[in-house]
Amino acid sequence: MNRTLMTIATRLPLVTALALGLAAPLTAQADALEQQLADLQDFQIIAHRGASGHAPEHTWPAYEQAREMGADYLELDLHMSADGELMVIHDTTLERTTDGEGKVSEHPLEALKALDAGAWFNEANPERAQEAYNGAQLLTLDEVIDRYGTDVRYYIETKSPENYPELQRALVETLEAEGLVDSGSVVIQSFSRDSLQQVQALNADIPLVQLVWYSPAEDGEGLTEWTGVTPAPAKITDADFQAIAEYAVGVGPNVVYDGEDVIDAGFVEQAHANGLLVHPYTINEPEQMQRLLDWGVDGMFTNFPDRLSELVE
Ligand code: G3P
Ligand code: CA
Repeated sequence: MNRTLMTIATRLPLVTALALGLAAPLTAQADALEQQLADLQDFQIIAHRGASGHAPEHTWPAYEQAREMGADYLELDLHMSADGELMVIHDTTLERTTDGEGKVSEHPLEALKALDAGAWFNEANPERAQEAYNGAQLLTLDEVIDRYGTDVRYYIETKSPENYPELQRALVETLEAEGLVDSGSVVIQSFSRDSLQQVQALNADIPLVQLVWYSPAEDGEGLTEWTGVTPAPAKITDADFQAIAEYAVGVGPNVVYDGEDVIDAGFVEQAHANGLLVHPYTINEPEQMQRLLDWGVDGMFTNFPDRLSELVE
């Protein structure tokens, strides 16, 4: 558990805070952060790219439906436009989810906002298609925050941070300016340990989650983690989890690769024993959801928050 988060309520002596006239705001801030950490001890429904099983990912319909379906967090993936805007989109490139071409980072905000980010969903999912999805726009982080403020919590991923040296600073400055750190409204996640540690250096009060991706090693010797942040699950030691717990409150693992489990209940138990929450991704089938609930996970990323809500009600 992040020590700063654990101790924020006692970081300034009360007498000092009173002398500075800060006691009430500090108490409110500490209360909000403590409340967020307390809430994270309960099961969390994380709407993966919004309710992206029902509506085009990372668009207003996906976020609106996620809220209606009882999501605790809206998940956002971030890239940056050519003119430095924080854009909410999963892929580095535009082709899969818009009618644009090339990298997000090659286009200014105005051009990105002109794209259709909804029609692809109707073509790919005729059984869930809705006329209103056609023409849905890509969103900026600012737009999402302007709309929801502190009414929701945000689970934000720094995508390909090696491509955007300014992303961490821009993100933290935005969150601070909007009061979303002090209000306990945000978790930041990344596959990049370096990105998370940059965020922590900028603001140590933001709960962080280390994403991990396990797949078969090229040499055929078991599993490997994508960025090398842990050994294969079968070889993870308590020290490996404790190293993550130095900066993060939890881990977000994939569960299955090519139809085979890559983690098991023992992974969850060992992470818990070392003070880490476990939020697996991306879990869409009720049977799989129930299996992970039985393992004792602390939340799940899902494209179908409605299905998960039904199970955990
Ligand atoms: O952030 C959890 C999960 O979303 C990571 O995978 O590729 O869907 O961003 P991806
Ligand atoms: Ca993500």
